[in-house]
Amino acid sequence: MNPDLKNVLVTGGAGYVGTVLAPQLLAAGHSVTVFDTMWFGCELQSQPRLKLVQGDIRDAEKVEEALWGVDAVIHLACISNDPSFELDETLSTSINFDCFEPLVLAAKRQGVRRFIYASSSSVYGVSDAPDVREEHPLLPLTLYSKYKGMCEEVLKRHQAQDFVCVTVRPATVCGYSPRMRFDLTVNILTNHAVNARKITVFGGSQKRPNIHIQDICDVYKLLLDIEGAKIAGRTYNAGYQNYTVDEIAQMVKHVVEAEFAGKPVEIAKVSTNDLRSYHVNSDKIANELGFVPRHSIEDAVRDLCAAMKEGKLPESMTDERYSNVKVLKSRGVS
Ligand SMILES: NC(=O)c1ccc[n+]([C@@H]2O[C@H](COP(=O)([O-])OP(=O)(O)OC[C@H]3O[C@@H](n4cnc5c(N)ncnc54)[C@H](O)[C@@H]3O)[C@@H](O)[C@H]2O)c1
Repeated sequence: MNPDLKNVLVTGGAGYVGTVLAPQLLAAGHSVTVFDTMWFGCELQSQPRLKLVQGDIRDAEKVEEALWGVDAVIHLACISNDPSFELDETLSTSINFDCFEPLVLAAKRQGVRRFIYASSSSVYGVSDAPDVREEHPLLPLTLYSKYKGMCEEVLKRHQAQDFVCVTVRPATVCGYSPRMRFDLTVNILTNHAVNARKITVFGGSQKRPNIHIQDICDVYKLLLDIEGAKIAGRTYNAGYQNYTVDEIAQMVKHVVEAEFAGKPVEIAKVSTNDLRSYHVNSDKIANELGFVPRHSIEDAVRDLCAAMKEGKLPESMTDERYSNVKVLKSRGVS
């Protein structure tokens, strides 16, 4: 653990990624504040050095108070996919963009020395480039992605020697979290393969970059541990494998068939006009920071199968809590 950055505040820390990340920060020796509206509940258990704050990042007073004594912020909170964002664009904009600069300024005022921002590889939109690197123009296709990119620009303006700002553009995350999301590609396919024994693939030739949830957590931990001068003002793609949806479906089928022996998984193909491909190149984070992902898509599928066998993901085909858009709708966001 970086002793200069002992106290870490994770916005959105009760979400899919945060629920895996926060215990690992604690295990590394950090004191952690999770600041989250808890819209999707909270699977984190209260324990020494963990402070759970139910709060909204738009609540300036509460944010300022929570930031007192914090050394580093990992900013994950947001309305975190396109369909959820589109439910109420005014509300989503207020969370994903309007309160971003006030949050950064409050962090700076309170003496935070490092700000790590979870953007998204969706900021690039669709590109034919075989290797989408960090300098590729941002051509976001949706408001969710557009605001992700705009926040990056805001953050860059506040980079200072004593306020290290860094942006991560994660690929789609996959794998098990106690706060599970079954609205992400690999996770959805696995859920259907296990519980319906059938995966439906729309198109199939489109590439979809993914990263295992453990690897993205390792990225955030690395960005806390590393010397600030190495990452100040920088942006990093964080993806591992750029497979086509067909290839992902085959991997899911093979792992699920091996894990639940004797039950074949059918792959049904449906044609689509939407063959948009996304691929990100993550050489920069490897070359500059030595970060190399260690977990594959197959690992994520195996972890999900294990969690299902252990009964950790009950009613996974029907329970709304696994889908961000369904939870927000049932909370009256429309
Ligand atoms: N999961 C992915 O595939 C992926 C890919 C690229 C980028 N990201 C980014 O990584 C971050 C984490 O993703 P995730 O999958 O854990 O998302 P998530 O939706 O599971 O978690 C987001 C958390 O933010 C909280 N939140 C929402 N609005 C809030 C507010 N106004 N104040 C306080 N808390 C609020 C929610 O309650 C939730 O717990 C997000 O910023 C997301 O855009 C995720």
